Amino acid sequence: MVLLGEPFPNFTAQTQLGQIKFHEWLGNSWGILFSHPSDFTPVCTTELARVVKLMPEFRRLGVKVIALSCNTVDSHRKWIEDIKVYAGMNDQDDFPYPIIDDCSRELATALGMLDPDEKDSHGIPLTARAVFIVDPTKKMRLSILYPANTGRNFDEIIRVIESLQLTEKHKVATPVDWKKGDNVVIQPTVSINEAKAQFPKFKVVNLPSGKSYLRIAPQPTDL
Ligand code: BEZ
Repeated sequence: MVLLGEPFPNFTAQTQLGQIKFHEWLGNSWGILFSHPSDFTPVCTTELARVVKLMPEFRRLGVKVIALSCNTVDSHRKWIEDIKVYAGMNDQDDFPYPIIDDCSRELATALGMLDPDEKDSHGIPLTARAVFIVDPTKKMRLSILYPANTGRNFDEIIRVIESLQLTEKHKVATPVDWKKGDNVVIQPTVSINEAKAQFPKFKVVNLPSGKSYLRIAPQPTDL
């Protein structure tokens, strides 16, 4: 299992688009690796179709997308026909991201993706709905696990990427329910003088403790 901030492994995998080596495939981009329980299942079909529709957003953010399930490349290829129709794609258009064949469950086991409560017809655990976000230095930056019966909210995943990219560039953090364009808070490690220089419009929220730790500023605009 990979923890936040740790290097993400440079695994080799088969996909319907051929063999990939993860770090080479990622290049200098951010990446999302997301697993799902199985091909030809309802929630998964809606999720993979949503990701197809979000590809312009992922491209705008410089994020490469790769999915994973414990099914064969052949199964992925057949299932992709369903996903394409559900996503409203034209028949002749290429499916826009690879799906890893992890039939051996090697990757799912190494990355802690298996859900012991969710089993296939042979009683073998299926993958949970994992989301891993990896940065261009190949470090794990976010990890979320959802159970099989709960489909993910990919608007939230876009929101997190925007927060990760913003807080990488500026010494800010994004408060509760933040959305792109909303105010941000200044990171606690920033001195008052640095805050004045870098965020001239910031305001300190007066709190009963008298401590000046909640410092709100407009979002830097170059996200
Ligand atoms: C689904 O994708 O709909 C699903 C897959 C496995 C278990 C439950 C739901």
